[in-house]
Amino acid sequence: MRAARLEPWVDAAGNVFGGLGMRAFDTARPAVLTGSHIDTVPEGGILDGALGVLAGLEALAVLRETQTPHGRPLAVAAWSDEEGRYDSLFGSRAFCGKLDVERLSEMAAADGERLVDAMARAGFDALRAPEAQAAPGAVAAYVELHIEQGPRLEEAGIPLGVVEAIVGVRCTRVMFIGQADHAGTTPMERRRDGFLAAAEFALKARDLVVKRGSARSVTNFGVVSVHPGVSNIVPARGELVHEMREPDPDVLDRLARECAVLARRVARRRQVRVELQPMSATTPAPCAPRVQAVIEAAAGGLGLASQRLYSAAGHDAQNLAAITEAGMIFIPSKGGRSHRVDEMSDWDAIERGANVLLQTLIALAR
Ligand code: GLV
Ligand code: MN
Ligand code: MN
Repeated sequence: MRAARLEPWVDAAGNVFGGLGMRAFDTARPAVLTGSHIDTVPEGGILDGALGVLAGLEALAVLRETQTPHGRPLAVAAWSDEEGRYDSLFGSRAFCGKLDVERLSEMAAADGERLVDAMARAGFDALRAPEAQAAPGAVAAYVELHIEQGPRLEEAGIPLGVVEAIVGVRCTRVMFIGQADHAGTTPMERRRDGFLAAAEFALKARDLVVKRGSARSVTNFGVVSVHPGVSNIVPARGELVHEMREPDPDVLDRLARECAVLARRVARRRQVRVELQPMSATTPAPCAPRVQAVIEAAAGGLGLASQRLYSAAGHDAQNLAAITEAGMIFIPSKGGRSHRVDEMSDWDAIERGANVLLQTLIALAR
């Protein structure tokens, strides 16, 4: 950011900003904001979400170098912990006043590391993260460039996506607590196996979401742990992290309730206990019609066809949508691949996306 001659600063939640015509947020001069995140999932690719940060940085650098007039100040953000090692969309959540302040001291990653310790190691006081909240009216508009992370644009042969709405994601830790026993000597019918209860729940919850959800409901079990975790002990405990996504908040709530009932039914039948612990929840968010229109016009001005679509992945833009007019630009993902190391997009597609972002920022800042 310094090399691009932007004004950099870091807030209490670890969000990094680079300003053009600003060095802090100021309600007297609302800013046009762009950005994304530079954290990644483990074994992830290079574009989710560094693309949106670097393209935003490039756009602001171009505006500065070409001395393009902009009525509003602009800034690019690199939001902290988007992927949710501690809490999904942590940095933008703090910026938008949506942190669960009560939970900050107990928040921990799947491997047990506490947020307060991780932030202290990086020179931050986690309990002060709420100070990152922006004053009302400080942001005039937000736009984020991202890869689609799915196959729709590539399969339709359309270079540009205009996001209409972003899905809500809910994560729950589901712990089945049975009893440790000798894996050789304990008769099969006497075992109270925490792992098998977890396995049965995972298969049945998957069916429940497919049968009882909407066509857009999806679910995943990406974290599984078995305790004590050796081959000659019947598992005393099987733990899962259960993730569910759905754009309609009412459907998401209903599915969560039905899965909780299912977990208790499986536990009862297998004579184990179950505990459900909410981990994180994001709310589905519509994108602002005005920002969608500005993106479409920017794409049209560059001779690019665009398509409106909803985002099945979570994004910082869904927090920003609560405090300002927010929108997102998608470019195609090769083979629809993402959250894997070979995630890619054509370099031409990246250039097109960056140019649409630039034109959108110019129009929003006018
Ligand atoms: C963000 O990467 C998500 O998991 O949707
Ligand atoms: Mn991601
Ligand atoms: Mn992302």
